[in-house]
Amino acid sequence: MSEGRTPKGLFIETYGCQMNVYDSERMRDVLAPLGYAQVDKPDEADLVVLNTCHIREKATEKVYSEIGRLRAHKERRQAEGKGMTIAIAGCVAQAEGEEIIRRAPAVDLVVGPQAYHKLPELIARAARKTGERLAADFTAQEKFDALPARAPDGVTAFLSIQEGCDKFCTFCVVPYTRGAEYSRPLADVLAEARSLAERGVREITLLGQNVNAYHGDGGAGFAALLRDLAQIDGVERLRYTTSHPIEMTDELIALHGDEPKLMPYLHLPVQSGSDRILKAMNRKHDGAFYRAIVERLRAARPDIALSTDLIVGFPGETEKEFEATLQLVRDVGFASAYSFKYSARPGTPAAVMMGQVPEEEKAERLARLQRLLSEQQRAFNTSQVDGVLPVLVTGNGRRPGQKHGRSPYLQAVHFDDTRARPGDIVPVRILSASQNSLAGARLERMAELA
Ligand code: SAH
Ligand code: SF4
Ligand code: F3S
Repeated sequence: MSEGRTPKGLFIETYGCQMNVYDSERMRDVLAPLGYAQVDKPDEADLVVLNTCHIREKATEKVYSEIGRLRAHKERRQAEGKGMTIAIAGCVAQAEGEEIIRRAPAVDLVVGPQAYHKLPELIARAARKTGERLAADFTAQEKFDALPARAPDGVTAFLSIQEGCDKFCTFCVVPYTRGAEYSRPLADVLAEARSLAERGVREITLLGQNVNAYHGDGGAGFAALLRDLAQIDGVERLRYTTSHPIEMTDELIALHGDEPKLMPYLHLPVQSGSDRILKAMNRKHDGAFYRAIVERLRAARPDIALSTDLIVGFPGETEKEFEATLQLVRDVGFASAYSFKYSARPGTPAAVMMGQVPEEEKAERLARLQRLLSEQQRAFNTSQVDGVLPVLVTGNGRRPGQKHGRSPYLQAVHFDDTRARPGDIVPVRILSASQNSLAGARLERMAELA
């Protein structure tokens, strides 16, 4: 039997953002022809890939503790006469590749986010023990061109259309780990979307660090791309994440009103409600600009709901400036949000700014902010009760006759229904809400909505 067909265990662990989730899927696709198939436990794996995140200190620390754990698995397997290749991928690999190699001899190879198409070659070299362990570069186009066609395993899928970032927010490592902004050619994105639709995908989430800054070849902007995608048969729902407020063009805002396939839910990070802090963050907009975008989005699509990212305890943030963040959250009203304590990242301008906020202060502010955000999330979910939502069926529930699905607002919905199949979009009357999900019962027709 050729080496390519021997079944081998693959264990991929994914940290960080959706870009990494997408990349992990693509790594699985690259490795499948070599005979690698996903296993449930690292102990059963011939190859373990940690797809890492560098965004906050905690995320990075996790990598080293996880490598320690894997080393024990590797030694156990070696004692049984089996091997284990350990590969570190993702943003920590890009940022700290050399250091990983120095600090962690158990690691066989390190591969940056733009070099996944080189995995087969790297694994072969690792097996030959050539001593070469690092592949990190910034050739995004080469990566996308070289990755094989995808095999989605559900009715929803991520599609990366853009990588990297040129915005240089002063707190953020992404411009250093993912490189300069790169948009995939329009034709490639459309082809991938068509192929996903043919394989049963009904909802596509476009991904990019600044997804709405997408600029295809020939001047095609992001709104034009969305319009083209909406024409594809089988694609019923479109989403995108993450957007930057300054890239919300008039055309894109208007499209939220005109294109029913564009879901009425938008993740629009604001980071802070204080104009002085926003400036120090180099966000390129102030609070009033953000509020105005929200107002115009709501005018175009009255039922649109928003989520956001927030950072507390940015260097120099006073109590008053933190309260400006609370005020912005109260004014806008978010359906959900991610909030973080500022984490100083090596090599970023904010890490060496004066006035680093003490840890306890950050923790206290975060707790206050999260109380407010979780009240808003609960209120939003509760506001759906007694209403009817079109739900995309994603699978069977735990009990027979129960299904689970996804609302337009990305809420998980559990409901009673014996007939619906994954991929159907069915009307569901919402009967109850919790912090993170909704429960309901299917109606016969959307017409019962009244
Ligand atoms: N491209 C996206 C966000 C990418 S990172 C955007 O521009 O909005 C995801 C989130 O992590 C950020 O929105 C920010 O809220 C948070 N984040 C990034 N760097 C951070 C840091 N150094 N400390 C704390 N949170 C951070
Ligand atoms: Fe980071 Fe700012 Fe770029 Fe988002 S826009 S990835 S926060 S630098
Ligand atoms: Fe983390 Fe890299 Fe995403 S740093 S948030 S995995 S782009």
